[in-house]
Amino acid sequence: MARMIFPDGKENTDFDFIAARLARLGISLKRWPAPGNPRARELLDKQSLTDTEKEELLKFVDNRFEELKRDKGYQTRDMVVIHEGIPNLADLLGKFDKIHTHSDDEVRYILAGSGYFGFVEPEGGQFLLEVTAGDYINVPANAEHWFEMKGCTRCKAVRYFIDTSGWTPHYTGRPRAFADATATA
Ligand SMILES: [Fe+2]
Repeated sequence: MARMIFPDGKENTDFDFIAARLARLGISLKRWPAPGNPRARELLDKQSLTDTEKEELLKFVDNRFEELKRDKGYQTRDMVVIHEGIPNLADLLGKFDKIHTHSDDEVRYILAGSGYFGFVEPEGGQFLLEVTAGDYINVPANAEHWFEMKGCTRCKAVRYFIDTSGWTPHYTGRPRAFADATATA
């Protein structure tokens, strides 16, 4: 379940509050329960997945993809698996933990583990959003944001794309308001 965290340490877990705050930025958040099928659970509990296993897991949530294709025009989907055994994990996460934008929407459906999105509000304030299994989030193109793990080590998420070249990060140079944002895994 999503949790909003502010630079002064205050937190909020009320879904309606969080959804309204995100809506100001054009961000949509939905609760889509992760699949409960025993085989899906088995795959979600694994540290890493082969390409075949990723595809098998994606099939469990392809009803969501069909809906997104129909309603939002997304064309492709894949699965990202972050875990502590990835040799260059810090370099990988380092691409996205600075404030940036993309030319395409950044769409993630978290199936296991957790991660943190950071967002910049119109007045310049910032907050973190912890996303966990069952959270679907759509960050619109050109929205200033970042992503970090903050000490979590695992996350499995489906990514949906209109155009896969659209998720190249464009750094805005704005400093983050969270002092400990460099912690990754
Ligand atoms: Fe991003």
